[in-house]
Amino acid sequence: MHRLEEIWLALSAGILVIFMVIVGYQGFALGMGPPSNMDTIDPQKVDETAPFDEPGVYKRGENEYEVIMTLQAFSFNPGDIEVPAGAKVTFTMTSKDVTHGFQVAGTNINAMVMPGHIQKITHSFDEPGNYLVLCNEYCGTGHQLMSTEITVK
Ligand code: CUA
Repeated sequence: MHRLEEIWLALSAGILVIFMVIVGYQGFALGMGPPSNMDTIDPQKVDETAPFDEPGVYKRGENEYEVIMTLQAFSFNPGDIEVPAGAKVTFTMTSKDVTHGFQVAGTNINAMVMPGHIQKITHSFDEPGNYLVLCNEYCGTGHQLMSTEITVK
């Protein structure tokens, strides 16, 4: 083998090893793995598992709300969400079937909601109005119909 070939081979192998060490260090030592595994749920038993047995909008404190939401082909439950402007709203979500998306137009809310996992996202709607909620993960033939609205008063 040519001398230069050997050098380049060694260099590329070395870079691979360095990257694996960095990623391994971040993932295991620093705990920088994806957070989605933290809260899991049996996707077959969403309807019987608290808090998803009672989807809805709940007042959790002074100016604090929690929306317990299930996503399924092709709807969001609850479908009629109303929260006061400026309140801290936490969406606690899971999917009952396939992967769905939870995107709220005009905000930076954009989450993936997967069966078996609990997704949480917190947001304050400062401007009153109607916010369009869209599923942005292709989930089947009715995907383009999967939408709802959040009313902020
Ligand atoms: Cu649900 Cu696309």
